[in-house]
Amino acid sequence: MRKPRISHVNLNCRDNDKTFALLSALGFKLSDQTRQFRFIRCSSDHHSLVLGFNDNANLNHIAFEMPDLDSVMRGIGRMRDHGHSVEWGPGRHGPGNNVFAYFCGPEEMPLEYTGEMQQVDDSYHIRKPEDWRWPPGRLDHWGITPGPSARVKAAQALYQFSDDGYRLES
Ligand SMILES: [Fe+2]
Repeated sequence: MRKPRISHVNLNCRDNDKTFALLSALGFKLSDQTRQFRFIRCSSDHHSLVLGFNDNANLNHIAFEMPDLDSVMRGIGRMRDHGHSVEWGPGRHGPGNNVFAYFCGPEEMPLEYTGEMQQVDDSYHIRKPEDWRWPPGRLDHWGITPGPSARVKAAQALYQFSDDGYRLES
């Protein structure tokens, strides 16, 4: 069992191509691409960074790795015990096949508990946006959770990055 750690960070990018080019130069590899995101890796984890195609540059979320599905579910319970509601999930994502639950943390910081991230190597077949289509009304493999709450969507807009890299006060 791996030690607790940050699993991945999801950044919405105004210029996804430019950011992807920079991170590729650093050695990150593309795992999958959807209409909304590029999933890139620097290890056997399917993704360590996710780059959103967006009008604004901001923090989509930070994900904490949990050992497995049971840990994610117990984590949800613990968060509820402390007054934090689930803002999306639980569910299982498409790209990465990881389980998820989203919360709003301190100062509405968008956070994810995740686990069971798909492990890949260089033989992994990169899939394109047309390969990632859900049936209407479905946003994950299980299909048991409604979509992200208005609260977590609003939280993602709070952590804006300016062109010189500093957070803008909203
Ligand atoms: Fe995530």
